[in-house]
Amino acid sequence: MLTTTSTATAMIIGASSQLSQALARQLSEQNVSLVLFVPEADQLTEFCQTLPGEVTVYPLSIGQPERLIEQLTTAWEQHNGAHLVIVNTGVNHYDATLPWPIEQHIIDVNVRGFAAISNCIFKLMCQQGYGQLAAINSIAGQRGGPNVAYHASKAFAVNYLQGLCMHAQRLKLPITISDIQLGLFDKAMLLNTAFLLSPIDKVAKQILTALKKGKRRVYVTKRWRVVAWMNRLLPEYIYNTRHWKPRKKTK
Ligand SMILES: NC(=O)c1ccc[n+]([C@@H]2O[C@H](COP(=O)([O-])OP(=O)(O)OC[C@H]3O[C@@H](n4cnc5c(N)ncnc54)[C@H](OP(=O)(O)O)[C@@H]3O)[C@@H](O)[C@H]2O)c1
Repeated sequence: MLTTTSTATAMIIGASSQLSQALARQLSEQNVSLVLFVPEADQLTEFCQTLPGEVTVYPLSIGQPERLIEQLTTAWEQHNGAHLVIVNTGVNHYDATLPWPIEQHIIDVNVRGFAAISNCIFKLMCQQGYGQLAAINSIAGQRGGPNVAYHASKAFAVNYLQGLCMHAQRLKLPITISDIQLGLFDKAMLLNTAFLLSPIDKVAKQILTALKKGKRRVYVTKRWRVVAWMNRLLPEYIYNTRHWKPRKKTK
């Protein structure tokens, strides 16, 4: 588990997103050395200059799992490992005609890429003898949904993380696997609902607090736990139709 009293190293894989950058800033302010991964390392030059602490950026080739594993392993060796690795890669797209190229891209990044990253980092942590692997996941994985491949990919992530956790216990190693179940922020933004929308810094803070506590699974922000619970309970005849019902126009 990451503590902020010692000098620690954290890797963030998929560091160009807003949430990753909020996490990076908060960790850097807590004296954590950062190793960031993005498709093109130059992408983050300006952002890194604004961070108070040590930071290094590496390229990330999600589309080529062998290359990706090589990139992660090289960076791991150069930094003598890491205490915490946050995986925040992912793509989402909705098209009601379900074109295969889009489905395939989501599967490539969210399933194949995610599994390659998690598998590689878990094995590096096993060699190191400890670590915390956290993935930014989504409550979308609880049930199928209109973004078919996306929902299914998030269910894959839940299952994959559970399996890694099982292996950590089998090996009796202090490796924590954390599944961060994020709410549907894009949807909340579309609906513009104050109940569900939270500032990104608050989201990042809740994630880091949960990670420090070594949580196995956490809903962020907390109120999404209720939505997730209701989502699971809805009978199919309601769940399957609610996405297609036209909304009443507000005058
Ligand atoms: N946003 C939401 O409402 C929401 C809600 C629930 C869960 N989540 C989950 O949170 C995670 C991040 O979501 P986000 O909204 O922060 O996404 P985002 O802003 O699009 O960031 C995703 C990260 O993945 C990287 N990435 C995507 N495709 C890649 C590729 N082919 N090669 C290398 N890197 C690639 C992106 O890099 P580039 O941008 O440089 O391509 C970016 O750093 C995802 O797992 C998502 O499912 C998001």
